[in-house]
Amino acid sequence: MRRDKVLLYVIVLLLPCLSLPHVAKSSIQCKAWLVQSIPTDMPKLPRISGVLSTGDVFQWLANKSTTSLDIIAQYWQLLATPKDPHSGDFGYSDSDLQRFGAHLGSLVYNSIDNVANRNVNIRILSHSGVYPEYTKEPSDLAFGRSNVKNVTLLLSKWWGSGIVHAKVWIFDDRDVYIGSANNDWKSLTQVKEVGIYLSGCSRIARKVKTYFDNLWRLASLDSSTQTRNVSDQQWLINRTVPCWSHFLPRKARCMSPLPSYIETPNVSPSYPSLSDHEVFSVDIKTFPRDHYCPEPQPIYLSFAPPELLFGKHQSDEQGWIDTIKSVVEGGTMRINTMDWLGQSQYTNPKVYWPSFSSAVSEGVFSKNAKVKILVAYWGHFIKATDGYLRSLLYSNVLCSSASVQNKCSGQVEIIYYIVPGFNKTGHAVRNGTKTGNKYPDYTRVNHGKYAVSDVRAHIGTSNLVWDYFFTTSGVSFGTYNTKIVLKLQEIFDVDWYSPYVVSVQEFGQDV
Ligand SMILES: *[C@@H]1O[C@H](CO)[C@@H](O)[C@H](O)[C@H]1NC(C)=O
Ligand SMILES: *[C@@H]1O[C@H](CO)[C@@H](O)[C@H](O)[C@H]1NC(C)=O
Ligand SMILES: *[C@@H]1O[C@H](CO)[C@@H](O)[C@H](O)[C@H]1NC(C)=O
Ligand SMILES: *[C@@H]1O[C@H](CO)[C@@H](O)[C@H](O)[C@H]1NC(C)=O
Ligand SMILES: *[C@@H]1O[C@H](CO)[C@@H](O)[C@H](O)[C@H]1NC(C)=O
Ligand SMILES: *[C@@H]1O[C@H](CO)[C@@H](O)[C@H](O)[C@H]1NC(C)=O
Repeated sequence: MRRDKVLLYVIVLLLPCLSLPHVAKSSIQCKAWLVQSIPTDMPKLPRISGVLSTGDVFQWLANKSTTSLDIIAQYWQLLATPKDPHSGDFGYSDSDLQRFGAHLGSLVYNSIDNVANRNVNIRILSHSGVYPEYTKEPSDLAFGRSNVKNVTLLLSKWWGSGIVHAKVWIFDDRDVYIGSANNDWKSLTQVKEVGIYLSGCSRIARKVKTYFDNLWRLASLDSSTQTRNVSDQQWLINRTVPCWSHFLPRKARCMSPLPSYIETPNVSPSYPSLSDHEVFSVDIKTFPRDHYCPEPQPIYLSFAPPELLFGKHQSDEQGWIDTIKSVVEGGTMRINTMDWLGQSQYTNPKVYWPSFSSAVSEGVFSKNAKVKILVAYWGHFIKATDGYLRSLLYSNVLCSSASVQNKCSGQVEIIYYIVPGFNKTGHAVRNGTKTGNKYPDYTRVNHGKYAVSDVRAHIGTSNLVWDYFFTTSGVSFGTYNTKIVLKLQEIFDVDWYSPYVVSVQEFGQDV
């Protein structure tokens, strides 16, 4: 079934090129670029042509907007605060910050500050509940300006846990950034990030804006009357959800205050996968410039948590899993993530979550695919990760010992990405004495979240842990666009073959 579908797509992709060599150009063409941040002091990482820098893209997005700018961020720290003992930057000197590239964050902040002085409507939505200074910048930008609105939203009031974690910029309802970069100067020059920048893509921008509006709406609603405690039959945990959640039996649900989401057949209360989710057919121009004719290629968006879904969009979990499952017979799947856990991180009790490892096993055993996974090893590595990764590697033992009838030639390869200096991060000074740390806290990490098969690319904002798909906000952009697929593979391969990795098998068993 699935292979047929992939084949069909390939045919659909090729057809227009054969039959329509001269497609009329519309005045505003949807264009896409992949966007990266590369930490300083990684001289052995080859640069990839045609990929933009996050710091530049954020400045353009701010500078160029003429009517509106909507930003979803977990927290803000575009301006370094080395004097603040709560900040990861604490104790570093001006020359250290210069060397770290902190000025790029100021440039982005100043661009937003400048555009706020023009009559552009700016809406900023962030998480609250972290250290209060993290909403200082949005608050400063909003102060005394009626065209700048700043809202904070505590998702834990609605889902029992979870945060605003999506990283999204929308300007003039036309241009969009979706990716892993936080609104933090460190995300521009000290953390490895991957995202996508879409320009002149109003159809896509409008959908992302609906998601933005859903979060914005939530911030003004009363969670105390509009949440329910539910016994979740899919994840076997009692938890809090919005009263319109499909995790509640249909009769127990309230009317959703958000745009409607498709009703799925009444299987057990949950969000079953959609077989016919919304797919756009947009002719995206990618750079370097296409040599051949424009080819409309399927695009989709996926969102988390599922209660914020609208129309017929995929849940973010399904968007990822369908990407992993899109690997072709004998093909290669590439997955890049900071965290990988087969469970939840923030619930009590823990939720066991085999969704991603099942999808990987399916690729190995039923498609004989090679699955390559790049996971970050860094200063805040989650210990339980190693066990889940090793259990995935055990697939190789099972695969190679499969009987002749069940011939298996698939393979899982997993490596840790280690950004140099990761174990020298933290405050420069503690209690008046130098710590010997070389970089600010929460830096020197591969933070990108994406997956790319031979045919489909998926770029998200979520870590691969249960909570990010069911209690935390996340957005992904996915496409079958050949150019984007190939470029994302190139980004992955440069990391995979770089000197900054070590295979999980070779990594100390005792970590
Ligand atoms: C953005 O605008 C600011 C102020 O007008 C300017 O200094 C800066 O060079 C611009 N940046 C880019 C990338 O266009
Ligand atoms: C911005 O939002 C924060 C958090 O809700 C609030 O404390 C602050 O007063 C707001 N600032 C302005 C200028 O609206
Ligand atoms: C749900 O359960 C939590 C903790 O058990 C409790 O604090 C809360 O009041 C309950 N909420 C509702 C809507 O019943
Ligand atoms: C959920 O709560 C119900 C009633 O309080 C209880 O009977 C059930 O065992 C709980 N389920 C789980 C999975 O904790
Ligand atoms: C930091 O990591 C490097 C590379 O893995 C290692 O050689 C070094 O010993 C580590 N330093 C500390 C202080 O753990
Ligand atoms: C700093 O010193 C104080 C008092 O001596 C001590 O209580 C505190 O734990 C120290 N803090 C750190 C981060 O070492």
